[in-house]
Parts: sequence; structure tokens; C-alpha cells
Amino acid sequence: IQSKKDKLVQIYEEAASFYHQILLNTVTGQEALDYMMQRGFSLETLKEFQIGFSPSNRTALYQMLKAKHFDDELLQESGIFSERRGQNEMFDRFSSRIIFPLRNPKGKTIAFSGRILQASPDTDSDYHEAKYLNSPETLLFNKRDFLFNFDKSRSEIRKSSEVILFEGYMDVVSAWQAGVRNGVASMGTSLTEEQNRMLTKVADNIVIAYDGDRAGIEATKRAIEILDKNKHFDISIFPLEAGMDPDEFIQQKGAKAFCEAIKNNRETSIQFFSRYLKTQLNLDTEKNRITYIETILKALVSLDSLIERELYLKELSDEFGIPVDSLQKQLKGYQQQLISERTGQRQSNPAPISHYKAN
Ligand code: UTP
Ligand code: MN
Ligand code: MN
Ligand code: MN
Ligand code: MN
Repeated sequence: IQSKKDKLVQIYEEAASFYHQILLNTVTGQEALDYMMQRGFSLETLKEFQIGFSPSNRTALYQMLKAKHFDDELLQESGIFSERRGQNEMFDRFSSRIIFPLRNPKGKTIAFSGRILQASPDTDSDYHEAKYLNSPETLLFNKRDFLFNFDKSRSEIRKSSEVILFEGYMDVVSAWQAGVRNGVASMGTSLTEEQNRMLTKVADNIVIAYDGDRAGIEATKRAIEILDKNKHFDISIFPLEAGMDPDEFIQQKGAKAFCEAIKNNRETSIQFFSRYLKTQLNLDTEKNRITYIETILKALVSLDSLIERELYLKELSDEFGIPVDSLQKQLKGYQQQLISERTGQRQSNPAPISHYKAN
């Protein structure tokens, strides 16, 4: 007997293949197909990821699934349909969108993300329809522990002990087509603890390749903080010009340039952090220069590698004409400060009473 989960997977698999056929073989899907081809995606790639299109006819998918005898309760639970204002009809919520099947680590489709064909330039505004729409959380799908493309990339990640973390599905698919096959995407800009845990099991090195815009930079900062917590990963950052994402890099500069860049142009967390600070602070003023140097020194406290630390001290010394000794002294001061803050915290937070009781 089939479990409910198995049946939901079956619904998603049927729907994925329905959407895919529509994109590749119908007049209804022609505009979307043209759009994807014009963005540089090959037929082979569209097939590999089973990318699809949901027709403007909002009941077509439902009719197809009913003909295959799935019952309404289950179809409702799949999250693919929305019921419109108490009417008894089931409407495809992804209608008129390009469909990305979201697959679990075993390669089974468990959710969808749908992209609108014509994204307005200001997609972050509340007044427009969201650029991407995802399946709601279901029995199968929990976006906190989902990584796009983990099914296909895992063997390459294991082999190279390295994973590349992208922001968007388009970036992953585009990178895959360019030959970079160890890429995953973290459902938008926030990496979760669960995703971190999944990745630590398969790799020791991680490259963050988020978008070059403000949101991407902020997200990179947050991702570094999460990844740094358990000190597992050797973290690097792939720097992108403002307003560019990996997919646009590939479109503009080509697959070969991307493969080379992602391999060779990498920043350490400190390099990223210092570049980030320089966009925040105008270093023409003495005050900002001091803030900059102090902030970098504080960041150096958490570095494990003595050699790396010395290297940055030397760089700071050269850049600002301050003797290494002085920087060194200041750094020691921050280290002391951190230690006393930690012990101070312990003193002000006594252990609960139960802790002192004999067992
Ligand atoms: P981006 O806005 O960077 O989109 O969002 P993109 O991947 O570059 O897509 P194109 O190139 O414009 O087609 C990155 C990721 O953030 C999530 C999606 O996971 C997307 O892939 N996102 C974005 C949403 O979930 N909803 C949105 O409305 C926008
Ligand atoms: Mn955006
Ligand atoms: Mn983005
Ligand atoms: Mn993007
Ligand atoms: Mn993009």
C-alpha cells in the first residue's frame, strides 16, 4: 500500500512532466520557450532540469490529474492548487509561470517554484506580483532544509569536497550548463542552519556566489556568520560587480570565463569584509579610516590561522602607513577584551540551580 507521501510525490512527478511537455511541445508554451532560449538555455538543459510552463488555463492540470484518479483531498494537500473564494474549483497557482521542479536528494519532485514571464524591474516592491512563487510547506516540502539541485550536484560536491552556493535557480542551471556541477541554491537569500548542516556532511570547502547587488552582499555577510559558527568550512567568496549575478556573468562573458573566474577569483572572508566596509565608509576622512582599521582588526581576532592574521596586519600596515607593531598591540587588546567579555558573561549568567544539585 502506498503512503500519502508517495502519492503526493506521484502528483508532483505527474505535474512536472505535464508542465515540461507544455513548455517543449505546445503553442501555449512557445513564448516561455523562446524566453528561455533567448536567455541562453539549451534544450538539453531544459530537459535535464525538467523545466516547464504552466498554461494560462488554470484548470488544465487539475483535469489531467483527475483523469488519473487522484482524489481531491490529496490534490488539495499538494499545495499546487488554490481554491478561489469558496468556489469548488481548484486553480493552478503557478498559472502562466515558468516552472522549476524542486527535487529532493533522491531526485523526486516535491515542490515547484514558478517564475513570471515578464518580471517588472522593481520586483521587490509589494505592489507587483512576486517574481518567483513557491509551493507552500507540505508533508514533502520544508524550505528550511531544501537545497535546489542537491540531488544532481551531490556526487560532484563529494568528489571535489567543495560546494558552490548560489542565490537563484537560474544561476545554478546556468552554471551547470557552463560546466560547473557542484552548485546548489538556498531558496533565496537566507541560508539556514539546516542547509548548513546538510552541506557540512558532503564538503569541507564552500564558495558563496550570491548576487553582486546590495541584497546579495548582505546575504553573503549573514551566510558567512552561519557557516562560521561550527568552524567546519573553509569559506571563500566569489566577488561579482554590483548589479550582476552569476547567470548574467555567464551570459555576458561566456561559460569559459565563468569557469575560470569561479576557480581563480576568490576572496577570503576578511577580503570580502574589507571590500564591503569600503563601500560603506568613505576612507577620505581620518575618522572613517580609524573605524575601518579598528573593524578589520576586530574581525582578525576570530581568525584561526596565525599566518593569515600576520598577512592582513602587514597589508593594513602598508595601506595606512601604521607600524605592524602598533596594529599587533591593538589586536592583542581586542583579544583580551573578547576574553574578558566572555568570562564576564559567564559570571553574570549563573548556571541554573539544578546544575549544582548532586545527581
Ligand atoms: P533573484 O531576484 O536574484 O532572481 O532571486 P534570479 O535568480 O536572478 O532570477 P532571474 O534571473 O531574474 O530570472 C534569487 C532567488 O530568490 C528567490 C528565488 O529562490 C530566486 O531564485 N526569490 C526571488 C523568491 O523566492 N521570490 C521572489 O519573488 C524573488
Ligand atoms: Mn530580487
Ligand atoms: Mn538577487
Ligand atoms: Mn539574481
Ligand atoms: Mn538572474
